[in-house]
Amino acid sequence: MNSYNITTLDDFIIRRQKDYPEAKGEFSRLMHHLGTAAKMVSMKVKRAGLSDILGQSQNMNVQGEIQQKLDVYADEVFTAALLSSGECCGVATEENQNIITFTHEFAVNGKYIVCIDPLDGSANIDANVSVGTIFSIYRRVSQRGEQVSEIDFLQPGTKQVAAGYVIYGSSTMLVYSTGNGVNGFTLDPSLGEFCLSHPGMMHSEKGRIYSVNEGNYIKFPEGVKKYIKYCQENDTETERPYISRYIGSLVSDFHRNLLKGGIYLYPESKNYPTGKLRLVYECNPMSFLAEHSGGMGSDGSGRVLTIVPESLHQRIPFYTGSTEMVKRVEKFIAENQ
Ligand code: AHG
Ligand code: MN
Ligand code: MN
Repeated sequence: MNSYNITTLDDFIIRRQKDYPEAKGEFSRLMHHLGTAAKMVSMKVKRAGLSDILGQSQNMNVQGEIQQKLDVYADEVFTAALLSSGECCGVATEENQNIITFTHEFAVNGKYIVCIDPLDGSANIDANVSVGTIFSIYRRVSQRGEQVSEIDFLQPGTKQVAAGYVIYGSSTMLVYSTGNGVNGFTLDPSLGEFCLSHPGMMHSEKGRIYSVNEGNYIKFPEGVKKYIKYCQENDTETERPYISRYIGSLVSDFHRNLLKGGIYLYPESKNYPTGKLRLVYECNPMSFLAEHSGGMGSDGSGRVLTIVPESLHQRIPFYTGSTEMVKRVEKFIAENQ
């Protein structure tokens, strides 16, 4: 007899729904549509190099245009999928200055809003390096049946119902959490299904990888500089020097560190006085995943998830990963103010 031992993302979502007898399947439908959009973007990303081969690679602007097209494509696909789920009444994305309010009758009644970075690390596309999508799901605070407003999107990260990312890497994976563990699903291209491959993902308490754009070192705050030097020191007991790895796609750097143990740092610097990464659709979802896998997400002085966002595209300094490492960089920062 052939063995059949596959848990698809849809199976998994339905099984989890049964743990909540009051659930009506609204969240499950939303997640299903996010999964479908992820498959569509995955197919497009995997063909990105072919577009170059078909005659555009000589044009210096084309690299930028292709990236832009993929940013826009991913944005359109995820937004359309969320609309057609019927469970989402509005979206905030990196690609739009303002929130997108769904006015269709079936969507206005949606219970959820979604914040999304449709294509993260898109500057890496032209070098065939992994990119991702980040998403964050909240219950709306406004009344169902009314149009959403920005207030719905400016909730602290502690209010997230779920968060996740898709990594378009050597394989495509979708990793998400509803606050009950972090689970990873690998896209089986032959089945066209996300299949549970990484159940119960956990950050190790201590890690040995530090991920930071070290080219900006001179512009970093004193405490961060000292922490980086700490990572580079020789000490056999704590297995230093640590390993330096930086891809330049938050999703990919975070994913590797989640699997192998490490810290991702994007401090404030002279170029980015309040940090580069966006609280609402980058730092909050990643911090939610970090915390639910035993790690931390910090802005250098405290928990990211408790920050009340002031604006959709607000930037913050960001430190996330293994608890011991995040606590240590916080300590270095506090001691060097
Ligand atoms: P995005 O492509 O969505 O704008 O995000 C890019 C972000 C993040 O993914 C990455 O970690 C960081 O920018 C890299 O920045 P540097 O090139 O400054 O290191
Ligand atoms: Mn991004
Ligand atoms: Mn992006």
